[in-house]
Amino acid sequence: MVTLAAPSITTASPNRLTIQTAEIALGSTAIRCLDWDRDRFDIEFELKNGTTYNSFLIRGDQTALVDTSHQKFEALYFETLEGLVDPTTIDYLVVNHTEPDHSGLIGRLLEIVPQLTIVGSKVAIQFLQHQLHRPFAFQLVKSGSQLNLGQGHCLEFVSAPNLHWPDTIFTYDSGTQVLYTCDVFGMHYCDDALYDEIPELLEQDFQYYYDCLMGPNARSVLGALKRMNKLTVTLVATGHGPLLQHHQQQWLEYYRTWSEAQSKATPYVALIYTDEYGHSDHIARAIAQGIHKTGTDVELVDLNETDLHDVREIATTATALVVGMPPQATNNSHVSAALSTILAVAHPKQAIGLFETGGGHDEPIYPLRNRFIELGLIEAFPPILIKATPSDATKQHCQEAGTDLGQWVSQNHRQHRREASDSSLDQALGRLSSGLYIVTARKGDVTSAMLASWVMQATVEPLGLAVAVAKERAIESLLHGEDYFVLNVLEEGNYQRLMKHFLKRFPPGADRFIGIATYDAENGSPILAEALAYLECRVISRTDAGDHWIMYCAADRGRVAHPDGITAVHHRKAGSHY
Ligand code: FEO
Repeated sequence: MVTLAAPSITTASPNRLTIQTAEIALGSTAIRCLDWDRDRFDIEFELKNGTTYNSFLIRGDQTALVDTSHQKFEALYFETLEGLVDPTTIDYLVVNHTEPDHSGLIGRLLEIVPQLTIVGSKVAIQFLQHQLHRPFAFQLVKSGSQLNLGQGHCLEFVSAPNLHWPDTIFTYDSGTQVLYTCDVFGMHYCDDALYDEIPELLEQDFQYYYDCLMGPNARSVLGALKRMNKLTVTLVATGHGPLLQHHQQQWLEYYRTWSEAQSKATPYVALIYTDEYGHSDHIARAIAQGIHKTGTDVELVDLNETDLHDVREIATTATALVVGMPPQATNNSHVSAALSTILAVAHPKQAIGLFETGGGHDEPIYPLRNRFIELGLIEAFPPILIKATPSDATKQHCQEAGTDLGQWVSQNHRQHRREASDSSLDQALGRLSSGLYIVTARKGDVTSAMLASWVMQATVEPLGLAVAVAKERAIESLLHGEDYFVLNVLEEGNYQRLMKHFLKRFPPGADRFIGIATYDAENGSPILAEALAYLECRVISRTDAGDHWIMYCAADRGRVAHPDGITAVHHRKAGSHY
């Protein structure tokens, strides 16, 4: 029987940042950073009740911290930590997730404890290497990995990719039966109450948080819940809000119910690969980003971590499959059996894409491709063969391939919804007309272009315009704040060739400008020589608007080629497509 100490609270008014510490299990202390007044998370996440950033200290023969906190808590956090333990004796920092609200103090911690070993997923360690710009000792973990701290504290790790970043793991202390989950099962709710005694107070914030962060990855939630099944959990120690003890089963059941409902209603792509092989994790993430742009869900499936029953279910129910060629299967009977399973259940209603990253050690790609084609699957993009370390251009190529596949999935889905939609409204909306334009952009060695018609002047002072860009467009990644582009205005009677060219379906990574006369704008983007006019533009801001980004842009320079020319106009029949 563990006697738990009452929480102690350190206050630093008037900033309304406070710290609460409490023993939550034998040798396990919560360090909760209470941010009472935070009213926004990211751009779109409005907070009504502030938030907390929860860090945990576990003391066995060796000492581990689980996650840190937001940088704004630096002084309070280290003052509190020093009251609990000599920080130089901390052996490990377990990083469940690397977003700065949990990793903001790692740099300072490493200054105090340079010999610290950081424990995390492969992706988390890669993210930290970019974030911290300094060497550090690390230990990679995934599902099934263990770290024994002694005195009963044996940490086991559970992979939970996509919840809500690809880096996420859970940490389970089998000695105390506490599961540390960082963002997952959390809520933005700031209160002195350490636990979830009164669920009625929390339910609204718990669901809002799920909808914003976890709902978009409902299938990944179900996968993580499945991997948690074998654990006996008496306390879920989350990274935000109260710890889940009194009503733990209810909170987990909410996640299961909402995720099952969500995943049944939406199509998805199964991205099947072998992590830790070649550059497959980089390529898989780039393809997944491209798919996400179209609003399509992705389930990442690491063949080494997924049993055959789950492989069968995923490969059967997915709307499309992407398969990264594993190392030659003679080395790994599980992977070989998994490939056979996928081939046994793949069906003609699915699309397929394949990639290879390990050169001559991969399973041969073309025989497998031919078998999928013989089964009737539609090839969403040509096989991607990566022989060298991926560059920005490679990443762009993979994103565009993912976007092609995502478009195939979302167009199928949209078609079903369109059939059930209000056709009168659709036709009325289609009576809105607009001009015809080509947006062109260059960033580093990547160029892109798209036909645009949803463009309008938005302000006079400063001279500004608004452009709607579908989230699935490849060019979208070149149009963030302070990026430059050119808006080429097409001319009535002289636009068909350009429109036809830029409406073409380009293979992923293809040069959009072959056969098109261009010259460079001062901002570096291509100007189309045949355009009636051009505007050199700079993105000031972009707003998330359903399936499009709305870019508000400053017009910096412009020129008209033919003063008497008239802008080409686009008339449509329906509002549900261009
Ligand atoms: Fe609480 Fe994703 O950070």
